[in-house]
Amino acid sequence: TLEVQATNFGRSIPSTLFGIFFEEINHAGAGGLWAELISNRGFEAGGRSTPSIIDPWYPKGDDHDVMLSTEETSLFRRNPIALRISVLCGTASNPCPADGVGVVNPGYWGIDVRAGKFYTVTFWLRSDTSVDLAVKFISEDEQRTLAQQTLKVEKVNSSSWEKYSFRLEANDTDHQGKFALTTAVKGSIWLDQVSAFPEETYKGHGYRTGLAQMLEDLKPAFIRFPGGCYVEGERLENAWRWRDTVGPWYERPGHLGDKWNYWSDDGLGYFEYLQLAEDLDTAPIWVFNNGISHQYSVTPRLIQPWVDDVLDGIEFARGPKTSKWGRVRAAMGHPEPFPLNHIAIGNEDCYRPWYRENYMAFYNAIRAAYPEIKLISNCDATNGPLDHPADYYDFHIYTNAYNLYSMAHQFDQKSRADGPKVFVSEYAVTGADSGTGSLLAAVAEGAFMIGLEINSDVVEMASYAPLFVHAKDRRWNPDCIVFDNWQQYGTPSYWVQQLFKDSNGARLLPFSLSSTWGSNPIVSVLRRHDKDLDADFVLIKAVNFGNDVVPVRITFNGLPADGILYTNSTIATLTSTHAMDENSFAQPKKITPQISPMEKPNSDLQVVLPPY
Ligand code: AHR
Repeated sequence: TLEVQATNFGRSIPSTLFGIFFEEINHAGAGGLWAELISNRGFEAGGRSTPSIIDPWYPKGDDHDVMLSTEETSLFRRNPIALRISVLCGTASNPCPADGVGVVNPGYWGIDVRAGKFYTVTFWLRSDTSVDLAVKFISEDEQRTLAQQTLKVEKVNSSSWEKYSFRLEANDTDHQGKFALTTAVKGSIWLDQVSAFPEETYKGHGYRTGLAQMLEDLKPAFIRFPGGCYVEGERLENAWRWRDTVGPWYERPGHLGDKWNYWSDDGLGYFEYLQLAEDLDTAPIWVFNNGISHQYSVTPRLIQPWVDDVLDGIEFARGPKTSKWGRVRAAMGHPEPFPLNHIAIGNEDCYRPWYRENYMAFYNAIRAAYPEIKLISNCDATNGPLDHPADYYDFHIYTNAYNLYSMAHQFDQKSRADGPKVFVSEYAVTGADSGTGSLLAAVAEGAFMIGLEINSDVVEMASYAPLFVHAKDRRWNPDCIVFDNWQQYGTPSYWVQQLFKDSNGARLLPFSLSSTWGSNPIVSVLRRHDKDLDADFVLIKAVNFGNDVVPVRITFNGLPADGILYTNSTIATLTSTHAMDENSFAQPKKITPQISPMEKPNSDLQVVLPPY
């Protein structure tokens, strides 16, 4: 029996409680949320070294017809590599094949080309010959042309770059398409910064629509970005640097994210994260590199330039458009400051060399310049006070389903004395219980999240991790949203997150549970006002982690029976036949909340919780 104290006004749940954590892991951004279709668009993937890595570009044509090489001859200073396509065929004795020779890019495990859709193609080119150049999307087997535009390159000037940008309409579909540039004229062509974007992106800002919509549907209170270990990297020289990810996309150097070990062109940069937060109507939380990578730390004596760099980064987000870095932001199309009010000083670095000393250097500088910004420490204060000041501390937990389920009570005993609030910035069930996103994992996470609601006087923010995985590059398992280059689905964990989307800012009502047998489900009772319906709703969540059916009788103390209308009330049930069941591309909605209308009962409300 669940007895709800319905007339008690309850306690407010922070409006910040449930948000999301975006990390560039599993190709979450490059080849994922960032809708750029060309991988390694500037041929820079070798980093600052020459010869560079042009993968996944490859030649179209035999080696006696075409040769690819890289040169440091780009017109862009910060990304110096350009591709040279030497066309050897095109003579009487060696004519080129009918469909020409050139270069192909298969995107990130295929390019999703759809008939009737438009794509914006941009690149820089120079040529030592006057050529007809075919710019096209082709099918996976390279036998069909899905879209094509022929360019007459008449400006024969091997030292002067020309920008080309145009719309390409697809007249055929292949989810595994490729991008190709071909010609049948002998000579040399240089190519750089090749981009192809679907014309439709989320809010027109470059995010893949289907994936961004799944984020919007979570109604997240905040977005923590860009990592995770991605922020630190293995080596400092490869760590994520905000400064290298802003300004025109074609001038960005890109970098190797050496923790998750793949190249990013950094189209999704610091500005784009801030813009995403705005587009999702959520608060940005920037995690910056505090001079610490997994292998090296900067000593306190040398930390000042790092501090200055972060202050510049804050100015980029928040400074007036007349400030040095605010001007750069304004030039990117956002004169108004972004509301960057939360910043994490590093990620999981508490026990790495010099963390506390360097932390204080960042803390003091940011606090002095921006006293209103909330600062997040990596050190756990669950079992005792921190030895340094902070507004929040990070708490990360990855464990098996039973442990996480038990941790619904993790913060019950946490001291309520003054001190930093908890930011559970990463949590998930991992290991054998999780499969690649099992129901069992999701149910345990639901119990843990209910525990967070109940303890939301001390836990003010929480986010599941990781958010995304490209099915062809699963570097961390499990994840919330699974996608490939053209489709996506939510794991049961994603749907549990959705079930909590109305918790932020609701009120937690007191209740009591009593049982004559077995163990109780994990329950929370919230009251929230629905603006559209201009009505107050009671929101009851219950997790049954066992494999028995649990009948629950619900009474509302203090409300007359006819005070509860049940109008527009529903029951949403998330379960499946087996605890280890999962969603998949073949059955993307096998496990999703099943919604049924709630009938007004004759006496007390009776609900049956199925197993799991
Ligand atoms: O979420 C995956 C990883 O787990 C994050 O990069 C890191 O912070 C944690 O160890």
